[in-house]
Amino acid sequence: MSKCHIPLIERYRDRLPFAPGDPIVTLQEGSSPLLRAPVLSQMTGAEVRLKLEGANPTGSFKDRGMTCAVSAAVRDGAKAVICASTGNTAASSAAYAARAGITCAVIVPDGKIAAGKMAQTLMHGARVIALDGNFDHALALVRELTETHPIALVNSVNEFRIEGQKTAAFEILEDLEGDLDALFIPVGNAGNITAYWRGFTEMGASPRMFGLQAEGAAPLVLGHPVEHPETVASAIRIGNPARWEDAMDATTASRGSIRAVSDDEILAAYRLLASREGMFCEPASAASVAGLLKYGADGAERVVCVLTGRGLKDPETALENNDGVTIHCAAERAALEEAVLGDA
Ligand code: F0G
Repeated sequence: MSKCHIPLIERYRDRLPFAPGDPIVTLQEGSSPLLRAPVLSQMTGAEVRLKLEGANPTGSFKDRGMTCAVSAAVRDGAKAVICASTGNTAASSAAYAARAGITCAVIVPDGKIAAGKMAQTLMHGARVIALDGNFDHALALVRELTETHPIALVNSVNEFRIEGQKTAAFEILEDLEGDLDALFIPVGNAGNITAYWRGFTEMGASPRMFGLQAEGAAPLVLGHPVEHPETVASAIRIGNPARWEDAMDATTASRGSIRAVSDDEILAAYRLLASREGMFCEPASAASVAGLLKYGADGAERVVCVLTGRGLKDPETALENNDGVTIHCAAERAALEEAVLGDA
């Protein structure tokens, strides 16, 4: 079996909190591609690569954490998992719960999660609670609820999530020839930047960590929670990240920073990635590249931008923001010729 077909927990068992014989719930996550980005490299003067986390089974990096969190929950006898989510954690927890044969409830901000994520979560048979509130309200409530009910909380406050997600850092170091100088990564609840930093640290690496938040949802940049976070990047529409201290520790220790990018900058990077690099990610993922383009590589030679989720997750935003054209055409040769060859 090539290493690409090995489930994440098996591939990194020596560095994860699982013993041989523990039940493993897997959809063959991890081992995602590290793609060269020639256009971004030319634009920035650095050697830029994209970590394609959308290649995971449910289309986002959450699967790395979820295989660990759900496996541990099953090991501990849990019959149900629960999470608050802006969409991807919901889809991932629903899929792994389905695979494990346990139930799943997700609390999402009503009307604020992308259509693809909602479709996935419902298809996997989860109970979706559409909350009249944002992600921060949902997480606070679900944390309270799990204090008094025996339901496993699978948000990134769960240590197994961080343990699983740190493996992306291992893969980057294995795939690169030479050192990594800087990592650009979108930040919402701040679990993923915490996980990468743990992974790098465990391997003795210390790339500069640049976390990117959307301007309208940038508590870590402002230094205080944001009561009404707003951004087109719905995945990172979060005003009070649970892993606040961990994220600040990672950026301070690595001489990096958390910075903000506007929705326009996010959408420009989103279109550029799709139309020039051939890589369609979701808007939140494009925040990493927006940050690289806005602030530059800052002297870093070898750079990785993490593309956290697939473009198909959010078809509405794609249909409203693209460089393509649709030409309606009669089913007739001359009309087709004009449509194909004429001025668009
Ligand atoms: N990118 C995507 C596509 C996400 O879905 C998220 C978080 C992030 C980046 C930020 O990661 O929270 O670890 O800092 N999504 C969570 C969810 C909050 O519920 O799906 P983070």
